[in-house]
Amino acid sequence: TDIEKGTYPHFMLKEIDEQPFVMRKIIQEYQDENDEIKLDGQVRQAMLETDRVYIIAAGTSFHAGLVGKQFLENIANVPVEVHIASEFSYNMPLLSEKPLFVFISQSGETADSRSVLVKIKELGHPSLTLTNVPGSTLSREADYTLHLHAGPEIAVASTKAYTAQIAVLAILAVDTAKAKGLSFDFNPLQELAIVANAMEGLTDQKEIIEEIARDFFTETRNAFYIGRGLDYFVVQEASLKLKEISYIQAEGFAGGELKHGTIALIEEGTPVIALATQESVNLSIRGNVQEVAARGAKTCVISMKGLEQEGDTLVLPHVHELLTPLVSVVPMQLLAYYAALHRDCDVDKPRNLAKSVTVE
Ligand code: G6P
Repeated sequence: TDIEKGTYPHFMLKEIDEQPFVMRKIIQEYQDENDEIKLDGQVRQAMLETDRVYIIAAGTSFHAGLVGKQFLENIANVPVEVHIASEFSYNMPLLSEKPLFVFISQSGETADSRSVLVKIKELGHPSLTLTNVPGSTLSREADYTLHLHAGPEIAVASTKAYTAQIAVLAILAVDTAKAKGLSFDFNPLQELAIVANAMEGLTDQKEIIEEIARDFFTETRNAFYIGRGLDYFVVQEASLKLKEISYIQAEGFAGGELKHGTIALIEEGTPVIALATQESVNLSIRGNVQEVAARGAKTCVISMKGLEQEGDTLVLPHVHELLTPLVSVVPMQLLAYYAALHRDCDVDKPRNLAKSVTVE
């Protein structure tokens, strides 16, 4: 490949560090001369015409879709379903009258997603692809494309593409809301600039995060991540990152669901990482941390400025509450990175995985 690591030991670390620049690139690409959102008019029209968006994706892109659903529903008032591509093909839900299919794919080549695109095109439904590779199959075959502008992502574990997907979904949601004449107090371009600075601050805190990784993940066979609301979606991505590159068996759970089963797995020393960036559930997620700690778990809370409590391991800079995934995922990516490093795993090329999966 022509892309070089430069001074970085791994592409993954380089790509984690590139995220502030990707945010700024996205702001630049999606901004017009009046500092308003610039978006393909056909995409806007498709968003106005649909009565329900069906997001189709796999892996990390699926996790970005879960966050995107919250944006489109909360900001733009558009109902959204998020589907794993490989399931959708043979388990198609009843479709609404005017569905719009949104494919999220870093590579634009994922065969599972393409097979859905082929099916829904046969049914005559419109499609939009969010991808990092504009000339890719999913981009060429869909009606419309939104480019992620993340630059080439080489490490198998996706990082900057995830945050780029979420940023573009936020812009899409606000653009749709504006086109619908909805009122809201959210300028995504300004808020993304704040996010970029917050991300930058975090990449300077690598030592603390490396310390947590060493302490929590060097020996363990398993690990749990918990969160509520938007944090629940981020912990699913956090656990996928850890699984992919460190081979630690990890799961991301909704805090309130622990007591309905998973808490049975907690033993003396089981690592539990909690995210607490959502005001409305701050106290309840902390309650969950106490529940697992009382059963012997080794706990760590990552919170956000304004919601922090004494003893929190890391406090993230404050950003708009809807955009917290963009910031909270960074320490999660770094945790996985350092866990893999300390366990002598091949960070950029984990076993059994491929960067883009072109078979169903
Ligand atoms: C592969 C990669 C994952 C990625 C998934 C979806 O499984 O290993 O990191 O999230 O494909 O890829 P896509 O290019 O469609 O986003």
